[in-house]
Amino acid sequence: MITRSPILNVMTRAADKAARGLKRDFGEVEQLQVSQKGPADFVSNADIKAEKILREELTKARPAFGFLLEEGGTVKGTDPEHRWIIDPLDGTTNFLHGLPHFAISIGLEKAGEIIAGVVYDPIKDEMFCAEKGGGAFLNDRRIRVSARKNMHESLIGTGIPFRGRGDGDRFNRQLSVMMAETAGVRRWGAAALDLAYVAAGRFDGFWEEGLSPWDIAAGMLLVKEAGGYVSDLKGGQSMLDSGTVLASNNLLHAPLQALLTNAA
Ligand code: IPD
Ligand code: CA
Ligand code: CA
Repeated sequence: MITRSPILNVMTRAADKAARGLKRDFGEVEQLQVSQKGPADFVSNADIKAEKILREELTKARPAFGFLLEEGGTVKGTDPEHRWIIDPLDGTTNFLHGLPHFAISIGLEKAGEIIAGVVYDPIKDEMFCAEKGGGAFLNDRRIRVSARKNMHESLIGTGIPFRGRGDGDRFNRQLSVMMAETAGVRRWGAAALDLAYVAAGRFDGFWEEGLSPWDIAAGMLLVKEAGGYVSDLKGGQSMLDSGTVLASNNLLHAPLQALLTNAA
């Protein structure tokens, strides 16, 4: 049994509590009232309820911290350094279609740097967590990125632009080089879990463009603490601002980046 740090305890407890409602609502997904937030971007009651619980629980534990919430936007805290970056339901489309692959993502930022992250998949009961300098864990087990270095054996996750978002032609070029060079490409529909899967060595790499800070804040730290490398597609560190991410083990990062750069 690992002993989690106080801050990871706070985060995992909040995720657990919010997940109870999500699980209940997932069971009744057909009865959920859904409203349309934008093209292909549905927000459900479950989503809003989960965010409310996360906000309440985290505020109880750390009253001064601010928030960046997918649904609620920015909430200023009295502590100017710390803020929670939260996606209460990553994988909304999966959720609404009854596909059991979605997660709660909570990142903690201090002075512009992510220092703790939790990604919780309530259906599989998989709690991924990491704190800066403390390694990455799946439930009670330490996780590490894969050691694979042969591109032809590597399995890569991605996100496909949808309903006119992003640059579909560029994505097609990227996909076609990945199809030619790797063992396979997966699109599972929850970016936070895609990153957690890189951290756990399930995926050897993951790239996506057009993401938001709440999709990736926690997952990026998981990958780094699991010994991997995260950058934007140009090799820079603009991930949270650009919403562009390439994560993998250290051996595959440069070759993957080269493939994506050639496809740009
Ligand atoms: C989405 C998921 C998906 C990614 C989308 C995100 P949401 O988040 O992470 O995998 O491809 O770009 O918007 O809307 O389900 O929270
Ligand atoms: Ca999301
Ligand atoms: Ca979401």
